[in-house]
Amino acid sequence: MSELVNTSKLADFVDQDVVVKGWVYNLRSSGKLVFLQIRDGAGFTQAIVSESEVSNDIWEKASKLTVESSVEVSGTVSKHPKKDEYEIQVKDIIVVQASEEYPIGAKEHGPDFLLDKRHLWLRSQTQWAVQKIRHTVIFALQEYLNNQGFTKFDSPILTPTACEGTTTLFELDYFDEGSAFLTQSGQLYLEAGAMALGKVYDFGPVFRAEKSKTRRHLTEFWMLDAEVAYASHEENMDLQEAQISYVVEKVLENCKDELEILERDVEKLSKVKAPFLRLSYADTIKKLQELGSDIKDGEDLGGDDETLLTENSDVPVFVERWPAEIKAFYMKRDPENEGLALCSDLIAPEGFGEIAGGSAREEDINVIEQRMKDHDLPVDEYQWYLDLRRYGSVPHAGYGIGLERLVGWMCGRKHVRETIPFPRLINRNRP
Ligand code: 4AD
Repeated sequence: MSELVNTSKLADFVDQDVVVKGWVYNLRSSGKLVFLQIRDGAGFTQAIVSESEVSNDIWEKASKLTVESSVEVSGTVSKHPKKDEYEIQVKDIIVVQASEEYPIGAKEHGPDFLLDKRHLWLRSQTQWAVQKIRHTVIFALQEYLNNQGFTKFDSPILTPTACEGTTTLFELDYFDEGSAFLTQSGQLYLEAGAMALGKVYDFGPVFRAEKSKTRRHLTEFWMLDAEVAYASHEENMDLQEAQISYVVEKVLENCKDELEILERDVEKLSKVKAPFLRLSYADTIKKLQELGSDIKDGEDLGGDDETLLTENSDVPVFVERWPAEIKAFYMKRDPENEGLALCSDLIAPEGFGEIAGGSAREEDINVIEQRMKDHDLPVDEYQWYLDLRRYGSVPHAGYGIGLERLVGWMCGRKHVRETIPFPRLINRNRP
């Protein structure tokens, strides 16, 4: 009996007979040979059917195969004469299902067509590579914090209040309790976790009913929030840069094939090492204006500004100490300048935009209660959150990383719609 093997492990089976269970990714024939490209989820490999080596029956089957038919291919593994690749010299083929004519072809398709067929597009080699890298990023993000003694603490998705402003909430009826909202970030709950467990993180889907139709915005995306009791604003940035550097290192180490498929410039990624650049908001505005942006003091950075800012930087840039009035209610003010919030946005290089946002949190109950009132938030609903300032309040800080933007940067994919299996955009919630 031949051994069932993943295409990613063929190097260990040279000259041996194996079975690969997968799909016909592509095929071409030249006279007495049929070249099949087989994918099995783990990877891709070439399988060669030679008319002189197989029975008439198998040759017939191979000649009639269609793209995306599911097949079990048996044969002997050999090394490609020139490349560092392995192939299968086919002895037998079982057709599990003969695919109908596959709608995604070699010709160029528009993004709308591909998104309508997202459930099939995910099978393509580039989309496969993106999902593999996404998996590595998820693993590395958590591994880094686990190694630092963090506890994973899951925040709820159904919440009674806003975290990041009331204008981007998805609202739904919640039995007799009135309205509930899909979470925008687990942060507030994570603050409770930090007071119980010291160093915590959550990781899950978050939702923003944001009317933004840009290449960086999804309505449902994944966020890792981290929160640390007794941490300062500076320590908060140290942690972000260490965690992001670790992720980059792991992607470079574990995803060589995937990065090659995506034609990612790995030279650029290999330069991403701590320390990252730290620029105050005020200096950022000055610098952007010098570079030709028409941004004004007090404004948020646009996508083009983010690209301009990091143009000549190998490493991400922290923009820190923003005007407090354009930032969230929970951010601690800078003791040296009450008008500023002790916060940071982390901007990735190469035009991939903001990948993380964080801050020190206001720990004084009177101050934060007043802020809630200033932001028109229903203070009664936040009494549990205010308890964190009533009972053993301590300085603390945290941040949230947007997974899809981070994956987009790693993969060199400019649009976040390719970085999540089934993207939700303001004009798309199917399939
Ligand atoms: O900067 P944001 O809004 O921060 C928070 O939600 C904090 N409560 C996090 C915290 O301190 N624990 O969002 C964090 C990150 C952004 O930097 C960005 O990468 C990503 O989430 N993000 C989005 N990604 C895709 N689509 C959107 N609509 C996004 N909005 C934010």
